[in-house]
Amino acid sequence: MKVLLVGSGGREHALAWQLAQSDKCEALYAAPGNAGIRECAACVRIDAEDVEGLVSFAKDKEIDMVVVGPEAPLVKGLADRLREEDILVFGPSAKAAQLEGSKGFMKDICAKYNIPTAAYGRFTDIEKAKAFIAEHGAPIVVKADGLAAGKGVIIAQSEDEAIAAAADMLSGNSFGAAGHEVVIEEFLDGEELSFFAICDGKTALAFGSAQDHKRAYDNDQGPNTGGMGAYTPAHMMTRELHSQIMDELITPTVEGMAAEGCPFTGVLFAGVMLVNSKPYLLEHNVRFGDPECQALMKRFDGDLLNTLVAAAQGDLEAARSEIEWRNGTALCVVMAAEGYPGSYAKNTVIKGLESAHTIAETTIFHAGTGVNDEGAIVNTGGRVLGVTALGENAQEAQSRAYETVALIDWPEGFCRKDIGYHAVAAEEERNLRNTQASA
Ligand code: AMP
Ligand code: GLY
Repeated sequence: MKVLLVGSGGREHALAWQLAQSDKCEALYAAPGNAGIRECAACVRIDAEDVEGLVSFAKDKEIDMVVVGPEAPLVKGLADRLREEDILVFGPSAKAAQLEGSKGFMKDICAKYNIPTAAYGRFTDIEKAKAFIAEHGAPIVVKADGLAAGKGVIIAQSEDEAIAAAADMLSGNSFGAAGHEVVIEEFLDGEELSFFAICDGKTALAFGSAQDHKRAYDNDQGPNTGGMGAYTPAHMMTRELHSQIMDELITPTVEGMAAEGCPFTGVLFAGVMLVNSKPYLLEHNVRFGDPECQALMKRFDGDLLNTLVAAAQGDLEAARSEIEWRNGTALCVVMAAEGYPGSYAKNTVIKGLESAHTIAETTIFHAGTGVNDEGAIVNTGGRVLGVTALGENAQEAQSRAYETVALIDWPEGFCRKDIGYHAVAAEEERNLRNTQASA
């Protein structure tokens, strides 16, 4: 098959790395790709959001299958246009992508299909929003309805802060059209995890769990980011929780979307909050998480292309036997440019990437990289590398990833030093219990 992958981040490098390993993958293109992706795919200069540019490239090159990484082109209708041209695509229609593109739409699906989620209201009128905030009290969560690059969520600690956030969003000043409507919801206090499921429009198959680290600095301090590291599986995952998430959050979503006339094909990435061991849906995303995807791809042990093609063809059952995972834990440490998520320098030179390949079971995925005129690898974005390692357990995966980080020579970069700490602590606790039990 000739395959086109859309996107340019660490998620897409990890997907490209797996897709290129498939026996069926005869040619792999990436639009636009990055300096790491070009090692396993031919990069073409088409922006990930240039829907018509991508469609005409796919037609010209007789592409058989398109895999879409980010949400924005999906919300813009890329999958619909490809289906009109009879090109297979892994990714939802624009209508189905509203699960991520409109928080109000997603909450209404939850309400209609009895999916456990925080109590909420949808507002375009500030007076009605104020009344809801007064009724529920703080802490309370205010969200811009539309896509806001991960920035449209305010956890307000007081009613005044919530009112100010809602007024700011509705004014259009901070989030433009994405804030024309707000969702205000109950604050859920618990532990978060990411859960993935591959869907073919009718059914879903679980595709791993993970935990992300959203704050910029160690011990979950500092500003929110797109994700500074992740590991899979999530340490709290049990067979029972897995079934509960599938039965209560994922399956009703997929069945509900089909009943609404907008069947969901692609990967559903549920942000889940565990409150007293009960899973609640925080949000749905219509794409893989990044950096979660880098850790997932490192552990995946099937044929990714066969899996995604089966979903795109509406025949997910054909992929059931493909979904296999290597034992242990995979963990990704993000190296970001100093200053991220605020302003940072671009085009700083990164060295030592070759020597870093010497550590066992480790792969460096590129996120924001390019090549300068001298042929050196430079940063082009804030999140730059995903140093991803597999280990027998979280502790081993963590050591391998940080051993690799130490070999990378990039003075303008930084990373968190504690990625996976929840999982390492849970392992230590289990070991201690086992030692005590056998003493
Ligand atoms: P979202 O973009 O909806 O995932 O929100 C971003 C982050 O805000 C989530 O990952 C949570 O950490 C937090 N969050 C969102 N909704 C809630 C909620 N209802 N209660 C507590 N935290 C929330
Ligand atoms: N890592 C969180 C996300 O991709 O949305």
